[in-house]
Amino acid sequence: TDPAVIRNFCIIAHIDHGKSTLADRMLQLTEVVEQRQMRAQYLDRMDIERERGITIKSQAVRLPWDLDDTSHILNMIDTPGHVDFTYEVSRSLAACEGCVLLVDAAQGIEAQTLANLYLAMENDLTIIPVLNKIDLPAAQPEKFAAELAHLIGCDVSDVLKVSAKTGEGVAELLDEVVRKVPAPVGVAEAPARAMIFDSVYDSYRGVVTYVKVVDGRLGKRERIQMMSTGATHELLEIGTNSPEMTAAAGLAVGEVGYLITGVKDVRQSRVGDTITLLKGGATEALGGYKDPKPMVFSGLYPLDGSDYPDLREALDKLQLNDAALTYEPETSAALGFGFRVGFLGLLHLEVVRERLEREFGLDLIATAPNVVYGVTMEDGTEYTVTNPSEFPTGKIDEVREPVVRATLLAPSEFIGAIMELCQTRRGTLQGMDYLSEDRVELRYSLPLAEIVFDFFDALKSKTRGYASLDYEPTGEQAAALVKVDILLHGDKVDAFSAIVHKDKAYAYGVRMASKLRELIPRQQFEVPIQAAVGSRVIARETVRAIRKDVLSKCYGGDISRKRKLLEKQKEGKKRMKVVGRVEVPQEAFIAALSSD
Ligand code: GTP
Repeated sequence: TDPAVIRNFCIIAHIDHGKSTLADRMLQLTEVVEQRQMRAQYLDRMDIERERGITIKSQAVRLPWDLDDTSHILNMIDTPGHVDFTYEVSRSLAACEGCVLLVDAAQGIEAQTLANLYLAMENDLTIIPVLNKIDLPAAQPEKFAAELAHLIGCDVSDVLKVSAKTGEGVAELLDEVVRKVPAPVGVAEAPARAMIFDSVYDSYRGVVTYVKVVDGRLGKRERIQMMSTGATHELLEIGTNSPEMTAAAGLAVGEVGYLITGVKDVRQSRVGDTITLLKGGATEALGGYKDPKPMVFSGLYPLDGSDYPDLREALDKLQLNDAALTYEPETSAALGFGFRVGFLGLLHLEVVRERLEREFGLDLIATAPNVVYGVTMEDGTEYTVTNPSEFPTGKIDEVREPVVRATLLAPSEFIGAIMELCQTRRGTLQGMDYLSEDRVELRYSLPLAEIVFDFFDALKSKTRGYASLDYEPTGEQAAALVKVDILLHGDKVDAFSAIVHKDKAYAYGVRMASKLRELIPRQQFEVPIQAAVGSRVIARETVRAIRKDVLSKCYGGDISRKRKLLEKQKEGKKRMKVVGRVEVPQEAFIAALSSD
């Protein structure tokens, strides 16, 4: 294909602004999907995506579109919509020359619209502003067109208005894509270079890798090389999606498509990597490759210890399709055998947990999520801490925690509430802009640890659901962090150790101790519950002793009744975990670990 007729574009939008619905309309209008095959959200293939209405994996579709007697090829690249997948979004954007910035005409610009817009600008994309849902009675197209034009610095008349639901304006939008988005530029004679922007595991075909050919050409049966690792593979199949996979002889400059090499694990075909040919290959990779780095960790334990091998197998399977998922075995005195699992963020964690429970039928306990800390000791030793119970003891010189740049958007009446919330979460205001008279954008630097846990819920409740949030990691900062341990009858309960800012250590200790006092049943002896920083106790509660003698109730009674009672008691004990001398019902652990 002549690159001059190719247009590579993506749709960026805040969640629920209608990206998938618009993509569906485009599939219909370009007739790549027949009417009767059309089902809602054709491109969101995973069940969880469909049910939760979120896009997790991006995909590319080739759409034919004629304008002014010329046949064009539009490659629409679907981008994942959530904050955790920023890196994948940025790679999808890097494969495009333009983007459709889609905004709900009843809602206006939201945090994700902005975050994705910034990424699009960093990649020098041509931006086509579009208001969606103009069929809604609550739509305010004039107001939001002005907001959008102001934001990207274009004329109000340049803002297109569509309804993805009725299809109104969608054909005009495709025309605009052809007119405005530049054709890809690359050197046809240069050594082949293709960028991987997505990589998906398919149980029948192995890994399907989505690429954009930047220079040269990739052909069937050729040997390719991954530039980050040097690994080589044979191209068993190469082709395009329209929207089902269609094999071709090769992909040339500017083209977007898929390839299959027979590898079984997406980690061998990583998003952001450059593919070249083994013979006469390129020497310089395309920029922008990064290893996915887990940002949030949580311990996952089977409720029933005998499910441990199943949990391992399930994680192995999920990892085939998820290069960002990491895990290693871990044991906890309180929870038994499990895994310490690393995630890109909270949504990633939630999705993985849900898939483990739903697709693999596992019942799990998850410990409270924590971020990764860097610790430097006075003697210069460095530690990376992914589990609070492994926080080093001894003379610590410095503790570092990850920080993010957060973008918050809300009606201006909530500025005070948002500032107050960010203040209590150790945030620093970086900047503030009015998008219009009554909508404001706040930029904060915040410790990741302060937002992974219930920040989003707090924000929503303080702003009656009107604020939106997006964030991206920006690095590390030193902070006054300490480890708080929880002790039952003098024994540390590893699952409850937490790393918190020293000003919040007391509150955490008091909260956990009183929560546990409610949850732990009385024992034969008194059980002190303590919260401690190092050897200093900062909070204390006590579970008073009882004398429980089940047999006393049926003194002199018949023997079979006694036996029954004893058995019943034994059964109850099976679901008890023993910490030191204290018996704790598993439910207590679960309840204490869940946020309230
Ligand atoms: P993700 O891709 O899951 O991030 O969300 P999305 O942006 O794709 O949103 P989606 O297409 O799932 O649409 C969200 C909701 O808005 C759905 O209930 C759609 O039916 C509805 N919707 C989308 N476009 C329109 C429109 O033009 N008019 C009306 N009335 N509703 C729309």
